[in-house]
Amino acid sequence: MSTNRELLFKYRKEGISDAVIYFALEECNGFDHLLLSQNLDKDIKDENRFVDAMNHYINGEMIEYVFNKAYFLSKHFYVDNNVLIPRQETEQLVLNSAKLIREMFGDKPIKIADVCTGSGAIGISIADVFKNNKVVLTDISNEALSVAKKNGEGLNNVSYLQGDMLEPLIKNDEKLDVILCNPPYIEDIKTIDEKTWKQEPHLALIAMPCTLFYEKVLKDFRRIMNEKYLLAFEIGEDMEEALTKLVKQYCEDAEFYFEKDMYDKTRFLYIKSANSYTNN
Ligand SMILES: C[S@@+](CC[C@H](N)C(=O)[O-])C[C@H]1O[C@@H](n2cnc3c(N)ncnc32)[C@H](O)[C@@H]1O
Repeated sequence: MSTNRELLFKYRKEGISDAVIYFALEECNGFDHLLLSQNLDKDIKDENRFVDAMNHYINGEMIEYVFNKAYFLSKHFYVDNNVLIPRQETEQLVLNSAKLIREMFGDKPIKIADVCTGSGAIGISIADVFKNNKVVLTDISNEALSVAKKNGEGLNNVSYLQGDMLEPLIKNDEKLDVILCNPPYIEDIKTIDEKTWKQEPHLALIAMPCTLFYEKVLKDFRRIMNEKYLLAFEIGEDMEEALTKLVKQYCEDAEFYFEKDMYDKTRFLYIKSANSYTNN
């Protein structure tokens, strides 16, 4: 039997990052981060599981898929190969959208959609904070939607619709105030790293052209949105020019801006109805 610290040192020497080792140690002890740091010199609770997980990781499996778990903001989400592992930069989309929602709508109960929800990370994080607001999660993949449902268990302000982009919302006659969307946007398959390509769903990655799914939203959103609205997108880093053209084509009267991530890459697009801070 080994202590947690002995295992940390052992796998560090094999070139595995502390973040991955800690993740696995926490899972194999049933500890959170604090408890693990307080128990580093105690024997690990399930060494066989830990060694098995490390072997899977060393053989190329993403650690989140090994444990069917990913951290996003302050929550953990169930993940499997039917959904993209939620990325750290997407947390910025959620935090900034939450701020904009508060500024634009205050305490008024509103309806929000997370289109292309995957694991549900975006919509469920928002639903968890804005308990008085209704949040609809949509995805074309039934399998992804099942994962989102698992993650949304216990939240009674969340509902689920399957279908192509805005179609299920249009069919359902929804009237929305906010759409949050992180759609597939990779056009050049060669830019996708091997681990991602082998393990994450291709349906979550590829768009031809890269603007395909943004245009689908921009073309149709007025059919399901109230006069005062917010659209918030995650985007690929080279898409600012192409998306500016689309926004000008479809949202003549709207205010819009792009935002950079912490690596100085333009990664987010926010579109707001004109006069979006008036009290109506
Ligand atoms: C980039 S992933 C985003 C997942 C999640 N929102 C996140 O940020 O981690 C894109 C998602 O879009 C879904 N998708 C792909 N094509 C779609 C379509 N035509 N209509 C709706 N969803 C689609 C995929 O199944 C996938 O779950």
